[in-house]
Amino acid sequence: MSVLSLKNVTKRFGGLTAVDNVSFDIEQGEIFGLIGPNGAGKTTIFNLITSIYSITEGQICFYDQKLERLKPFEIANMGITRTFQNIRLFKKLTAYDNVLTACHRSADYSIFNSIIRFGKFKYQERGLNRKTDELLKLMGLWDYKDIVASNLPYGLQRKLEIARALALEPKLLLLDEPAAGMNPEETMQLMELIREIREKLNLTVLIIEHHMDLIMGVCDRIFVLNFGIPLAFGTPKEIQEDKKVIEAYLGKEERNYAEG
Ligand SMILES: Nc1ncnc2c1ncn2[C@@H]1O[C@H](COP(=O)(O)OP(=O)(O)OP(=O)(O)O)[C@@H](O)[C@H]1O
Ligand SMILES: [Mg+2]
Repeated sequence: MSVLSLKNVTKRFGGLTAVDNVSFDIEQGEIFGLIGPNGAGKTTIFNLITSIYSITEGQICFYDQKLERLKPFEIANMGITRTFQNIRLFKKLTAYDNVLTACHRSADYSIFNSIIRFGKFKYQERGLNRKTDELLKLMGLWDYKDIVASNLPYGLQRKLEIARALALEPKLLLLDEPAAGMNPEETMQLMELIREIREKLNLTVLIIEHHMDLIMGVCDRIFVLNFGIPLAFGTPKEIQEDKKVIEAYLGKEERNYAEG
C-alpha cells in the first residue's frame, strides 16, 4: 500500500501554476527524492502535503485517508512531519529543549499533575527525557545538547530540525534541503544518517535536495519537476541518464558546483 499518494495535484497562485498536474505514489519504507531547478514547485508540494497551502485541483492521500481541509497540526498528528528549507528552530532554546518541547506532544498528564509535579507527570517526564536523550544521540547531537540553537553551526541546526521532526514520531518524514549549507563530508554523513533513521524508526522519507551525490546515493526512486511540470520519474540510474533531466537540470547543477 502507498504511504503517500498524489493524484493530479495542481497549485495555482493567481496566474502562476507552481505545481501542474503532478501524480506519484510513495511506498512504505521508501526514500523518495523530489528534485528540479529553483522555483520548480518542490517546496510548494511539501506545503500542499502539510496543509500550509490548499490544493487547487487533485487529491493527496496518506495511506487511505484524504488530506483535505485539515490543519497543519492535524497532519503532524496523523504522522507526517517535516523540516523547512529555511530552518525554523526555537532559536533561544537549547538543542535539548528544542527536542523535548516536541516530545511533549505524546504526554497526556493533566494541568493539575504538572502543577504538583507528581504521579503521572513525574513518570511521563522521565519518559520524555529518555526519548529526547535517545534522539539527540541518534542524530549525533548529544555533545551539543546544552547549546542554544542559534549558536550551533548551520549543519547541526539542520540535524536538530530533523531530531525535532522525529520527536513527533512520524511515519512519513519530509526533508526540505536537509544538506543545504553542509560541506561534502557532512553531506555524506547525513546520507548515512537518513538511511539509519529509516531503518531504526521504520520510516518512509520524502526528500528535496540539490546535492546530487546525496540524492543519487540515498533515494530508491526520484521524481523530477521543471516549472511545476513532471519531467521524469525513475531510479537514480535512470534519472542520471535521462536526456531531458540532464538538459533541464543536472547539467546546470554540475556547472554550478564546478563554478563553486
Ligand atoms: N505563497 C506563494 N505565493 C505566490 N507564489 C508562490 C508562493 N509560494 C511559491 N510561489 C511560487 O511558486 C513557484 C515554485 O516555488 P517553490 O518554492 O515551490 O520552488 P522550489 O522548487 O522549492 O525552489 P527552490 O529549489 O528554489 O527551493 C515559484 O515561482 C514561487 O515564486
Ligand atoms: Mg524550495
